[in-house]
Amino acid sequence: MKIFLDTADIDEIRTLNETGMVDGVTTNPSLIAKAGRNILDTTAEICALVDGPVSAEVTATDYETMLKEGEKLAAIAENVTVKVPLTIDGLRVCKHLSDNGTMVNVTLCFSAAQALMAAKAGASFISPFVGRLDDIGADGMNLISDIITLYDQYHFNTEVLVASVRGPQHVVDAALLGADVVTIPPKILTQLYQHPLTDKGLAAFLADWEKTGQSIL
Ligand code: G3P
Repeated sequence: MKIFLDTADIDEIRTLNETGMVDGVTTNPSLIAKAGRNILDTTAEICALVDGPVSAEVTATDYETMLKEGEKLAAIAENVTVKVPLTIDGLRVCKHLSDNGTMVNVTLCFSAAQALMAAKAGASFISPFVGRLDDIGADGMNLISDIITLYDQYHFNTEVLVASVRGPQHVVDAALLGADVVTIPPKILTQLYQHPLTDKGLAAFLADWEKTGQSIL
């Protein structure tokens, strides 16, 4: 399963990219606003840092303007993935850009029916928001399971990109279901490798090692 970073913070991306664990990046208008920088400059910088797909989201809601925005974002770098909302105009833009060889990530997906539409529109990625479904008392992971079953059934190539991830358990659940990608805030990438028993065990090993007076080097 690929791991994308869900952030527009260039410093965080630079640091975590050095771990070799980052397969791509996703941004959205809220994350760009949080970063407080220009979307075009930020996207270009992220694309230069990260080899994998970098999602940059359109902000218009009508077909013509959304398409122009998508084409402008796609021209920034070869690894730009244009992110469009799951609306009828978003799907039309997805179809147009996909037919012309641009990767498209269809976002704000909350149902299997929507995921089916995105796949038929040629999306490279579908982004179901598991955390926001959990927030309203639904089960986000059930949706991931349904989409994977549905895509397998019809051999769609659209990759299931699990978004709105709230913690390490979402990542493990997504992996157990066979999702293609999870996009996670930087904080969760750190949580994925941390465990108090690892820290405790290492401290005990080092204390015992100290007593031996040995040195490997
Ligand atoms: O990038 C889209 C998604 O991951 C947003 O997550 O935490 O705002 O629900 P969140």
